[in-house]
Amino acid sequence: MILITGGAGYIGSHVVKEIAAAGFDVVILDNLSTGNRVAAEAVRTLLRDYDGAGQIELVIGDCGNESLLDQICRQHPIDAVIHLAAFSEVGESMRDAAKYFSNNTAQSIYLLNSLKRNRVDKLVFSSTAAVYGQPLRNPIPEEHPLQPSNVYGLSKMMIESMLPRYRVNYGLNYISLRYFNAAGADASGLIGEKHRQESHLIPLVILRAMGRRDRFTIFGDDYDTYDGTCLRDYIHVSDLAQAHLLALQALLAGNVRERVYNLGNGRPHSVREVIAAVEQACGRSLTCDIGPRRLGDPSILLASSQRAVDELGWKPQYPHLQNIVDSAWRWHRLENWPES
Ligand SMILES: NC(=O)c1ccc[n+]([C@@H]2O[C@H](COP(=O)([O-])OP(=O)(O)OC[C@H]3O[C@@H](n4cnc5c(N)ncnc54)[C@H](O)[C@@H]3O)[C@@H](O)[C@H]2O)c1
Repeated sequence: MILITGGAGYIGSHVVKEIAAAGFDVVILDNLSTGNRVAAEAVRTLLRDYDGAGQIELVIGDCGNESLLDQICRQHPIDAVIHLAAFSEVGESMRDAAKYFSNNTAQSIYLLNSLKRNRVDKLVFSSTAAVYGQPLRNPIPEEHPLQPSNVYGLSKMMIESMLPRYRVNYGLNYISLRYFNAAGADASGLIGEKHRQESHLIPLVILRAMGRRDRFTIFGDDYDTYDGTCLRDYIHVSDLAQAHLLALQALLAGNVRERVYNLGNGRPHSVREVIAAVEQACGRSLTCDIGPRRLGDPSILLASSQRAVDELGWKPQYPHLQNIVDSAWRWHRLENWPES
């Protein structure tokens, strides 16, 4: 049985699908602060097509609620935890640092202490490219110095820096996965990215294309890049989910005891290229505003994910931007989830 915190969220719901489709029973622990209750139901629906899929249970609560965690561990034989629950709005983290230190850092410490007490010794941790801050070079390898330039990245880096101590003192085996820009949606179109407050580029451009936002602003077109806009590394959410399954299997097999992996495609795409891909998906051109640069936005962020390829056998299935955007477009066109 696998405990997945944040499993009602965007990436979490895809991870739940991948893990349950591989035959594992899953308990989702999610407080629905940014997630959706219907995500778990949608995953159950789409798993009907999979032979031998595991069961999914949704528990509503905080990932740092120690008595709730003790109860879950008493009721279920938890073999490993995949910890995705967190807030991840960079701008908000700079305005309200306490919110991020409390939710992402403190709650994770309570979770780690509960795992120790309940003798659960395997963890996959959702980290982020934001731990690197302004890159000294691209593509960024895992050994790159960690110098986060925002509180969100810092709140994750603090947990990453504690994990080796939990390994030494309590035998916790862990893998930290540093995702670059998660995007796209499951091929079924039944699960995808739905946030009450959207800040990610691809859904923002799609919502503009669907007429659900009045404007879309490019933050800076004077960067030292081939078209003046920032370059990012977009990774399909289903490829991220596959990496979680591989990480989990490596931990369960005892092949990995402590390791960090970047997850990206290693291909740069500019903001203008993303807009062009949405135009291609929706079949018409879009007008955009040009605004000033945002403070702290690096011009290029690109992952070196060779380690995950070599050691976990990770092989992204959807490396092309147009496939990623097409899947997101399909999801947004079909999406009819109630607000939760
Ligand atoms: N989306 C990206 O591009 C990206 C990139 C790098 C890292 N990440 C990390 O991936 C993880 C998932 O991100 P996402 O984009 O799916 O976000 P999301 O907001 O869709 O999902 C987060 C989920 O965690 C839940 N949650 C938050 N705090 C909780 C708490 N204290 N207790 C229980 N549940 C809680 C939310 O309700 C939500 O369902 C996060 O840890 C995020 O930092 C995301």
